Amino acid sequence: MENKRTIALDGPSGVTPPKQKRIIALDGPSGGTPPKQKRIIALDGPSGAGKSTLAKKTAKHFGMIYVDTGALYRCIGLFAFRKGIASNDSTGVIDLLPEIKLEMKYDETGLQRMILCGDDVTDDIRMPEISKYASDVSAIPAVREFLLSMQRDMAVKYDVIMDGRDIGTVVLPEAGLKIFITADADARAMRRYKELSAAGVNTTLEEVTEAMIQRDANDSQRDVAPLKAADDAVILDTTNLDFNESFKAICDLVSGRFPK
Ligand code: DC
Repeated sequence: MENKRTIALDGPSGVTPPKQKRIIALDGPSGGTPPKQKRIIALDGPSGAGKSTLAKKTAKHFGMIYVDTGALYRCIGLFAFRKGIASNDSTGVIDLLPEIKLEMKYDETGLQRMILCGDDVTDDIRMPEISKYASDVSAIPAVREFLLSMQRDMAVKYDVIMDGRDIGTVVLPEAGLKIFITADADARAMRRYKELSAAGVNTTLEEVTEAMIQRDANDSQRDVAPLKAADDAVILDTTNLDFNESFKAICDLVSGRFPK
């Protein structure tokens, strides 16, 4: 299969690459400054736990790159959706993979933009029907394999905080810090509902709750790389924490693990 995936970090003018490229010094001269440790943070958890908002702010605060891996699965889902392939038609989805050219770019605010076969689909992949598609296609082993090196490459090049479902268990098992963020289903559904409403999506809390319960089951019961906390992950339950409290808890973990 021809591999058409690219990570465009220095796109056309107007698109700035992510700031910083940290030098990894693995063995400094004796008596010299100690090598700076590369910072790789895996952030996993179910949908609506607040991962992406927290990860974005944490990345900015610590000068790291935020990588939203769900966006990659969403792009594959969107592509299948647009081609009229059912999300549970594994063979149909696998047959599409050679046609898919995916790029991740970062705009001047550090926001990750997704380019699918040349089109910016950053907003399109957030449609509720694409959430279901993304969850279904993410259960296909060939799709996970297709996206694996793209995710790992980011952690080779940059200090990253990467959010997803299997980052601590499969994608970056060597991450220096693994955090599993969770919250009870009602709290997560309410947060997601508010997010969607703010984005102008017409839906109800009941619909959001129903879709979330289904997606949780889908993501945690699949055979490959199911949603689960790595054995060495710190579990952070944000049910009773507001955003600032959750952010502080994460900052404390990051500063404790990667002191300046
Ligand atoms: O984080 P998100 O809701 O945008 O992710 C969309 C879907 O992609 C989610 O239902 C499960 C899947 N996913 C995955 O299987 N592994 C990841 N690392 C990230 C997302």
